[in-house]
Amino acid sequence: MFSLGNNKGITIKSPEEIDLMRKSGQIVAQTMQKLILAAKPGITTMELDQIAEDDIRSQNAVPSFKGYLNYPATICTSINNELVHGIPSDRKIQDGDILSIDAGAIYKGFHSDHAMTIPVGTIPESINDLINVTRESLLVGIKNAVRGARIGDISHSIQEYIESNNYGVVREYVGHGIGRNLHEDPPVPNFGENGRGLELKKGLVLAIEPMVTVGDWHTKLHEDEWTVSTLDGNLCAHFEHTIVITDNDAEILTINQPL
Ligand code: MF3
Ligand code: CO
Repeated sequence: MFSLGNNKGITIKSPEEIDLMRKSGQIVAQTMQKLILAAKPGITTMELDQIAEDDIRSQNAVPSFKGYLNYPATICTSINNELVHGIPSDRKIQDGDILSIDAGAIYKGFHSDHAMTIPVGTIPESINDLINVTRESLLVGIKNAVRGARIGDISHSIQEYIESNNYGVVREYVGHGIGRNLHEDPPVPNFGENGRGLELKKGLVLAIEPMVTVGDWHTKLHEDEWTVSTLDGNLCAHFEHTIVITDNDAEILTINQPL
């Protein structure tokens, strides 16, 4: 989300609401799987957007991002040095690119938010490492999202993991609560100190989304007023899951149901 959020307060979800959010998360997880299969060299990001919109609507949901603050598309597609909020266009993804896809759905009033950076064709091992460390930093954050812990425990664990792997942690965009609104309180930074911030209660739903850079972590906003890229032009990656705090650990909602 944005550094200047318009968050709507903290909400604790009932078991019935969590069921709906689980469904919303599964919808967007399915859409993401389709996009991963479609993201071959030569396809345009606009074509990927159409696949995403069709797939979300076919599951009786609607795109979460389209129209949000006038955002014009279903997904965000951010390539290489672009970090988040890239607008789908007639640009073709190419062999060796890395593509960050961010997707959200609304099902029966509840949002889900999910992002992933994927390789297009073949990429060098060093770039794979950036992607792996970013994915793992999200999983580390989720592991620390236990009932009774605090937001700062999530934030600190993510920062520690990323920096110990010699990458940069973006400060200007952070994760967020989510529910009937795409962006709710509390903010979930990917940097911070243990023991600080809101205590995690059962039924709190969060979108955790580490954004990781090679080199300096500062970002810049493009003239389209959406696309965010690294200031120094280096590569970056982004992973996001919507999770819910349970009796003890966190359950990932934006994941396909095991068969
Ligand atoms: N995961 C992104 C975020 O929380 C979703 C952005 S939606 C957009 O910022 F519509 F604002 F692009
Ligand atoms: Co988000």
